[in-house]
Amino acid sequence: IRCQSINAEEKKSKRNLLDNASNLLTNFLSGGSIGSMPTAEGAVSDLFGRPFFFSLYDWFLEHGSVYKLAFGPKAFVVVSDPIVARHVLRENAFCYDKGVLAEILEPIMGKGLIPADLDTWKLRRRVIAPGFHTLYLEAMVRVFTTCSERTMTKLSKLLKGGSSDGQKSIELDLEAEFSSLALDIIGLGVFNYDFGSVTKESPVIKAVYGTLFEAEHRSTFYIPYWNIPLARWIVPRQRKFQSDLKIINDCLDGLIRNAKETRQETDVEKLQQRDYSDLKDASLLRFLVDMRGADVDDRQLRDDLMTMLIAGHETTSAVLTWAVFLLAQNPAKMKAAQAEVDSVLGEGKPTFESIKRLQYIRLIVVEALRLYPQPPLLIRRSLKSDVLPGGYRGKKDGYAIPAGTDIFLSVYNLHRSPYFWDRPNDFEPERFLVQRKNEEIEEWAGFDPSRSPGALYPNEIIADFAFLPFGGGPRKCVGDQFALMESTVALAMLLQNFDVELKGTPESVELVTGATIHTKNGLWCKLKKRSDLD
Ligand code: HEM
Repeated sequence: IRCQSINAEEKKSKRNLLDNASNLLTNFLSGGSIGSMPTAEGAVSDLFGRPFFFSLYDWFLEHGSVYKLAFGPKAFVVVSDPIVARHVLRENAFCYDKGVLAEILEPIMGKGLIPADLDTWKLRRRVIAPGFHTLYLEAMVRVFTTCSERTMTKLSKLLKGGSSDGQKSIELDLEAEFSSLALDIIGLGVFNYDFGSVTKESPVIKAVYGTLFEAEHRSTFYIPYWNIPLARWIVPRQRKFQSDLKIINDCLDGLIRNAKETRQETDVEKLQQRDYSDLKDASLLRFLVDMRGADVDDRQLRDDLMTMLIAGHETTSAVLTWAVFLLAQNPAKMKAAQAEVDSVLGEGKPTFESIKRLQYIRLIVVEALRLYPQPPLLIRRSLKSDVLPGGYRGKKDGYAIPAGTDIFLSVYNLHRSPYFWDRPNDFEPERFLVQRKNEEIEEWAGFDPSRSPGALYPNEIIADFAFLPFGGGPRKCVGDQFALMESTVALAMLLQNFDVELKGTPESVELVTGATIHTKNGLWCKLKKRSDLD
């Protein structure tokens, strides 16, 4: 049986290899036939040395908001314009799939929402999106608070232990702390598993980090050598990856089994009104298993959970990291944020209701996402030929692209575009309060909060696709409100308790990027108990 299954794996690997080769050929051929547009010539050195999205930004300023990036025979279209982004993500969304991203993530996420084929995606999106309903989010805020409290207690203890120098401060890597916090939250929120990673190490935690590390490696490694037959058995890092995956899969299978054994099948409307304070396991898995008419095999459920584990962990931890990085360089804004936290929360904990009053903290979170979008690039491949709108200062009749064209939608460029933002590189959470007007831009309608009444956080609809922290259109992030509230709670609780300074200069915090933008060596900070609380 084992031999047979390896043969089947081998066949699949060979098929993948052939698919990749044929995609490469299609792209090679199509690269030459992308309609005429400004062209940037990339060199291999642009891929190394500094984050790739920096080079994409420089070329954007030089060549405009739609340009072709040629790497030898290979060509990509780089988009940095809201009208073109709206076209690709929303107006003609089903003309595109995730291209190379799906190829990279499929071995990890299987048929989870991000890499899924269109038919599976339609089916699962209809089931998963309703899971993030109001009462679930309310229950999740309690999880965010409990987990953040664990982190604050840990930091306070470290501070007590480390203050013998009389400085009453400690130095620590806050990025690592946020990563543990986000892992604990996503485990509890999605499948009711307490990793407990804020306070301990375990084989499952190590396996999750191993898998995230591999996902990152694959997204920056341009030759999919892991698809070569037998590579997964021969290459040591691929063997380790397979064993990490097995540890996580076994853990998820156990949780799925438990949830199915305690299934209480109900209609979706009733599930959305369920009182979560009565439930021992108020997780998304509970919702997916209990939903009437949404039966799927364990494999699909596991892919769904794994996708959300990966999509919701590093992204949120990165938002917190960059929010603190930005605040630490702006002490006046840090003080203003602390003053808001004190006046809204006092010494109490954040709640679903009080998040609505933490306006400045919410805007800090979205401003951190504007300056450091996670991921900095969205990837698409055209399934049919299409005509992209010209965009700001582009060709009036647009740009024709053939089927198979790879598109990098640079959210980083959009969010720092000098054409749509005042002082684009500055950290100004207040900017979202101001309605922007620019007479020069005809088609872009600018900020208009009335387009998304009741939205707690600025979003792509309000900004008409000039601000895309969670993508847009049908493939928009399903966990956006979860992540935003999680970040708001964690940041508010950190500022409620501590003053934070960077340990070194801002320039010493080097950026690296895979799926998310993170630091090269951690966000080393000096942490002090708030002096005004003594
Ligand atoms: C998709 C960002 C947190 C689950 C996306 C996309 C973005 C994004 C930009 C669209 C990708 C594309 O169009 O190619 C973020 C950021 C987060 C975050 C910045 C944190 C601050 C989460 C969380 C979850 C989650 C907490 C789950 C609990 C997903 C899923 C998709 C997705 C399942 C795929 C949706 C689909 O294709 O239908 N995310 N995300 N994300 N995200 Fe998030």
